[in-house]
Amino acid sequence: MSKHEISLQVNGRPVEAVVEPNMSLLELLRTQAGASEVKLGCGEGVCGTCTVLLAGEPVNSCLVFAVQAEGHEVTTVRGLAGEGEELHPLQRSFLEHAGSQCGFCTPGMLLTAKWYLDGHPAAGREELRAALAGNLCRCTGYTKILDAVEAYRDLEVTHVD
Ligand code: FES
Ligand code: FES
Repeated sequence: MSKHEISLQVNGRPVEAVVEPNMSLLELLRTQAGASEVKLGCGEGVCGTCTVLLAGEPVNSCLVFAVQAEGHEVTTVRGLAGEGEELHPLQRSFLEHAGSQCGFCTPGMLLTAKWYLDGHPAAGREELRAALAGNLCRCTGYTKILDAVEAYRDLEVTHVD
């Protein structure tokens, strides 16, 4: 199988990689881009654990080929807060509202919630629940996750006012 050279950006950092045509973006991120924060759950597009933003849109990175990321920006959960130790306010809200237990689903939850609220800043609880329907959590029962996302939404609204 012929390999492909690709270039992309991961959280603003240039990454050059040589990949098999059937390598997933998830595998590329974990093995060649140092992005072990992107988690492998089901590996078949069901759980949302592997969610990253590709060119600003959430994707299940286990279902996207690495070559499809050529020339694009990929954002993982590490890219949410930017440089330094400071947490993003949404991460802080998860912490304060116990929105994370084992933490395995959390990177995908955070990225999906942030992406959705950026486009729908006044989304209600049921809209948020629907937006996060593709991200499965085996620990929290979702209540605490939704509490955390709503608290962040309210913080942002207050901030804008
Ligand atoms: S690991 Fe990608 S959707 Fe489950
Ligand atoms: S916190 Fe464990 S899977 Fe969600």
